[in-house]
Amino acid sequence: MIPLIEVKNLRKEFNVQGKKLVAIRDISFTIGQRETLGLVGESGCGKSTTGRCLLRLEQATSGEVFYQQRNLHSMGRKELFSFRRYAQIIFQDPYSSLNPRMTAGDIIAEPARIHRLIAEAEIEKYVTSLLEMVSLSKTAFSRFPHEFSGGQRQRIGIARALALKPHFLVCDEPISALDVSVQAQIVNLLKNLQKELGLTYLFIAHDLAMVKYISDRVAVMYLGSIVEIAPSEELYYNPQHPYTQALLSAIPLPDPLLERKRNTIPLIGELPSLLNPPNGCPFASRCPQAMARCLEVQPKFKECAPRHFVACHLYNS
Ligand SMILES: Nc1ncnc2c1ncn2[C@@H]1O[C@H](COP(=O)(O)OP(=O)(O)OP(=O)(O)O)[C@@H](O)[C@H]1O
Ligand code: SF4
Ligand SMILES: [Mg+2]
Repeated sequence: MIPLIEVKNLRKEFNVQGKKLVAIRDISFTIGQRETLGLVGESGCGKSTTGRCLLRLEQATSGEVFYQQRNLHSMGRKELFSFRRYAQIIFQDPYSSLNPRMTAGDIIAEPARIHRLIAEAEIEKYVTSLLEMVSLSKTAFSRFPHEFSGGQRQRIGIARALALKPHFLVCDEPISALDVSVQAQIVNLLKNLQKELGLTYLFIAHDLAMVKYISDRVAVMYLGSIVEIAPSEELYYNPQHPYTQALLSAIPLPDPLLERKRNTIPLIGELPSLLNPPNGCPFASRCPQAMARCLEVQPKFKECAPRHFVACHLYNS
């Protein structure tokens, strides 16, 4: 099957006060049509930058991103404008991402107006259908963002992202800022919309449990590198990378008996600076199983089970 998104050796460096910060270190992966790829990792590991590069909101330093086999970085202005219609983003913070001076109706209609997708006479009807799609009442049309709850605001953000009938959505921690009680509702809404509209998602999150629930496959990121990628069930029940194992061991288990039995792997040691990234394995300074080779050579991906890839010297011998 041809993937919708193909990322090849993507690298993103930022210039921070005259120093080179390597935010993404030569990552490669694909996202299939109608697939959800979860992307997890600690704060600052490069998740949002990856998402932004996939939408060309950020210019990659090197490497390529293909959307339906078209190289994003060689698209001209016209082609990029039409690509933007098909690829949208949902942000983490539904409070700051909505213009407080615009009504929900105008916020949702704005992209369709910019792209001249719908005639002005039809806009109200179109926005009402989008409100319905995200389970908001018609009356939301003329209300302002501060009149809504966090969950409702995120629904407005989703309706706005859907206004251009996109194929691909980057969901950048869309539930992290919400109350636990509404998180599952928003995830279920995204799941249902995906089925109904045939959408493809990159779903960025901290919460590994939620990512498992929504994702077909999950990629684990550490210090700008993807260290493991596998179908979600496989990753959760058979994690291979010591970092993934440590992350998973930190999730509380619902069964107290299981909780007592398992070994928690603490994440000790220093997180290296992105301004001075290590030459070898990015996880070496915190890995309980690090060997001399790990400090010198960056491990390559190896397929350790069908569709399960891990970048670790323990599997490369
Ligand atoms: N525009 C920028 N200029 C300089 N540095 C940046 C810029 N954007 C991101 N960075 C740096 O790149 C690294 C990766 O940032 P990014 O926002 O992608 O991480 P993240 O995994 O999304 O983190 P979080 O979970 O906190 O959202 C961080 O060290 C960040 O400070
Ligand atoms: S390559 Fe070495 S340091 Fe890195 S995760 Fe594997 S064992 Fe640990
Ligand atoms: Mg982020």
